[in-house]
Formats: sequence, structure tokens, C-alpha cells
Amino acid sequence: MSNIGSYEERSKNFDWSISEKKLDYKDGDAINIGWYCSDRICQMGKANKTALIWEGLGGVEKEYTFNDIRLRSNSIASFLKEQGINNEDRVCLFMDKIPELYIGFLGVLKLGAIAQPLFSAFGDESLFVRLDNAKTKAIITQKKHVKKVRKIVNQMPYLERIIIVDYDGKHPLREREISFNMDEAEKVESFDCFPTKAESPSVLHYTSGTTGQPKGVKHVHYSLISQYLTSKWVLDLKDDDIYWCTADPGWVTGTSYGIIGPWSLGITQCVLDTGFSAESWYKFIEKRGVTVWYSAPTAIRSLMKAGDELVKEFDLTSLRHLASVGEPLNAEAVIWSDKVFGKSFLDTYWQTETGSIMLTNFPGMKIKPGSMGKPFPGVTATVLDVETLEPITEIGKAGLIGFKPDWPALMRGFWANEETYKKKFKNGWYLPGDRASIDSDGYYWFIGRDDDVINTAGHLVSPFEVESALLEHESVAESAVVAKPDDVNMEVVKAFVTIKPGYTADKDLELKIMNFIRKKLSPLAMPQEIEYVDSLPKTRSGKIMRRVLHAQEWGEEVGDLSTLEND
Ligand code: PRX
Repeated sequence: MSNIGSYEERSKNFDWSISEKKLDYKDGDAINIGWYCSDRICQMGKANKTALIWEGLGGVEKEYTFNDIRLRSNSIASFLKEQGINNEDRVCLFMDKIPELYIGFLGVLKLGAIAQPLFSAFGDESLFVRLDNAKTKAIITQKKHVKKVRKIVNQMPYLERIIIVDYDGKHPLREREISFNMDEAEKVESFDCFPTKAESPSVLHYTSGTTGQPKGVKHVHYSLISQYLTSKWVLDLKDDDIYWCTADPGWVTGTSYGIIGPWSLGITQCVLDTGFSAESWYKFIEKRGVTVWYSAPTAIRSLMKAGDELVKEFDLTSLRHLASVGEPLNAEAVIWSDKVFGKSFLDTYWQTETGSIMLTNFPGMKIKPGSMGKPFPGVTATVLDVETLEPITEIGKAGLIGFKPDWPALMRGFWANEETYKKKFKNGWYLPGDRASIDSDGYYWFIGRDDDVINTAGHLVSPFEVESALLEHESVAESAVVAKPDDVNMEVVKAFVTIKPGYTADKDLELKIMNFIRKKLSPLAMPQEIEYVDSLPKTRSGKIMRRVLHAQEWGEEVGDLSTLEND
């Protein structure tokens, strides 16, 4: 029997107080995610239960119980306090998927500070833009990443502490740098968690839009109410599960469902901190006895590519429930997973801004491969007419997804960008910026984004960011960046450029441009291809029309070109 039981029953008279009661929370109480994910679980008698099984490169392993994560997050919180970090200060976590990242996240929250996790593959420029926006006071990082911080530290007078978790004493520490070893630090038996309230800020995740710099999506401690219940009902987590969320906590899935959801439920989770390979992933599932697996379509398509025979070399019978998020999960992938694992990956839809799962397939519900499923109980969803922004009543007609902005995990703002934040709400609806249709059974079908943001392998890339990086190269006159189709990643980044007189449009120049922008962009945002063109399609007012290039790449109709300048 699944945790949710009957979707229809649960949806009737749903109230978020169901979740509040399970968490013994009442309106006005203090609510601190760090405490809920460690101290409370220990108080419930699970102190000696394994919280984290971690495996790194070369098969290095570490295990932590809930008491271990309680004590270590206390140590981190106390250390930060000694260093002068206060509640609501931003503390960036800039690490690979090592235990310090997961446990440090709880420590930051216990202090009442705001956790700002950033993907460790970011280069110094991507890092700077995000730290500068948040005026981050401290960064917790590893030796291998500290040189990126050193490169930009002089531009950041507000960054008071650079905390290195694996300092080996070989090279002297520089100004503002300090060593903190989580496993060796004195254990702090009790730490008075900052009494954060429902609306106190908790996590700041950066996400890309079509224009402007990345936006800092601000969440609050009350988000736990959504994250807890969705983990229980959608991921179906139960006490004896071994859960594996493959997402990196630099992105929202890795925090909402890679830390908060499972640990607030007292679930054992495992983490594999090595790169992707189908063999190593299957081996990990077999070795750890993974029962619930939350992953992403690109990974699933890569597994499909590795073939059915490989699956048979491993004993994967421990798997009981699979779910996916981040990009459209194609019907083939759902059908394939059922064939090889005997279970379908259930598609879930949400985003950084929503903080928790919004549309989803539930265990026990009829699965329609290719559909995102139905709204989570307590989520009022619809598709809206593009012009009127009124709900569409016609079955199957495409429109903009809209959510009534009233669930606990909805973001509370974009950091220092109130104007852009307000634009996400129209006519009483929160607009995630995606298009979909609803069929006669109430299932949602994803159509595409309503903006130019590229979703490559589940990572959002702003065309504007890539275009700006290209324009900084001395040879580039103009640039336009769009998605191009790809079998595994669904979309990859493609750049069109016009070059300045005096340069030759050849392979050599392409290489030079690529090397130049590599330093500025995250590896995920790197174009797979640069195409030289004589001119770019523009509107009469001079705005580059990405949609013309997009249509060309996808073999689609271009649509209305009446505003095009050079037609
Ligand atoms: O366009 C949708 C797509 O990813 C966007 C959110 O990206 P991000 O904020 O990085 O969060 C990803 C993980 C929660 C959405 O606006 N997306 C997410 N899930 C799906 C999806 N597109 C289609 N199907 C999904 N299941």
C-alpha cells in the first residue's frame, strides 16, 4: 500500500494542516528545517539510524547516523556563530556532493542563516555574479575550489570568511580564509537553534531566466510543510527505505528532495559523488540496495543508450519506486524503465521557484506515459489562455500553466529583484513560464517553455548569459543563442555569431571563442556548436529574433515574420 493511498480521497477536503500535524507544528511556532532534519528525528528514537551513506571517487565510503548529523550540524552552526555569522546572513555552500555539503546545509539553517548552495562546477565569474547579488558573508568550500574564490575575493569586500573543509596545512591560508574540519571538530552536544518562524528565509537558489542576471529564489522555513508531505506521498518514502536522489544540492532537487524531504522523514539516503556511468550507477543501486530512486530524464536516456543487456548484469530487485524530474520525460523512457526495471519512472513537474512537486504521477495511479500527471492535493492548477489569462475550459487546448499561489513552498521573492518577481504573478495566478494542456482525465501534458530559456540535461541556461559571454570576445559582433535538438540531453546550446571585419570565420577562431567563454560560463551552459552567419534575423526595432533561429533548428514553421527587418 502506498503512503498516499487513494489520490481522489486525499484530494477531497485537503488541508496543509495534515502536514503541520505530522510535524507537530502549529501556526506561530518556531520552525527550523535544520532542527527538523536532525534533532527531531533523534528525539523520535532514530538517533542511531543511518542518515547518510556516502561514496566518493575510488570507492571511499562514509556513513553518518542521525545523531552524527545532529552533532556535526551543531558544530558547524557553532563555528559559524563564533566567526560572526548571524541569522539571515547568506552562507554559500560551494562543494562537490560531499557529506559536508549535506550536513553543512543543516548547520547553516540551525543558525538561522540563509543557505546559498552553488554548483561546484561553476567557474569564478558564475560564482561572482551570484555571491555579489546576495552579498554573501561566508562561503564553505573545498581546497580544490578555493582558487576560484581567490580569483574574485578582492571584488567582494562583504565576503568575510572563506571556510575550507579539507585544509591540509600544505599551503598557507590567506586573509579571510579559515580551516574547519567537520569530522574532527569538537562535537557540540546542544546548540540552540535560531527560533526561525514560518516566514524566516531559509534557502537561496539561483536560477536562470531569459534576460538579466540569474535570479536568487528566496525560500522560507515553512517550505518544509510541502517538502515533507510531497516526499511522503509522491516519493512514497517509508521507514526502511534506502533512498537515492541523484541531483546535486547546487540545484533545488538536491536540497528539497536530496536533504529536506528525506531527512525530515527520518529516511536513510545514499549519495554517489562520482561522475555518471551506467555501470557505476547500477553497481551503486545493487551494493546499497536502493529502494526509491529519484533521477532525471537525461540520466534515464543515457541509461537507455547503455542498453538492456547491461541492466541484466546487476541485481536491481531492491528498487520499488522510481521518479523523475527536471525536463520532459518522454513516453519511451517510461516504457523502457518498466521493461528493464519492472517499474515505470513516474514523472514529477516543479521548479526552483515552486520549491516542491506541483504536478505529478502518484504511486498506484494509472500512468499515461509522457504525461506529467495531476496536481498534488492542495495545489490548485490550471492552464490559462495566453491572451486573457483566464482558465481554459476546452479539453486539450494548450495554454500557460497557472498555480494559485497558496502552497507552503512557493518562493517568497527574488533576491534584490522585486520587479521581476512581481511579473511571475498575473490575474491571481503564479505563472511558472511553461505551456501545457489538460486531457479529459485531468492529466497534464507538457508542451514547452514560454520563454527562450534552454533546458539542457535538466539545467536551465539563459541565452542572454551565453550571448553576453560571446560578445565579450573581441571578434564577435553579434550573437544569438538557441536550443538545438539532442537525443540524450533533449536540448543543447547552439550559438549563432556574426564576426567583426578583420577576423576569419574558421575552426581556429571557433576554438578561441570557445576557450574564451569556457572561463565565463558553467560547463552546462557551453554551446555545443557555433555557427557563423552574415547577419541575424531582427525585428524592425533591432531586437534579435531567437525564435526564427529556433524554428530553423527544430524544422518548425517560423510563424509570423511581419516584424522581421531583413526578410
Ligand atoms: O520548464 C520546466 C522544466 O524545468 C523547469 C524548472 O527548472 P528548475 O527551476 O531548474 O527546476 C528543476 C527541478 C525541479 C520548469 O519550469 N521541468 C521541470 N520538470 C519538468 C519540466 N519540464 C517537463 N516535464 C517535467 N517533469
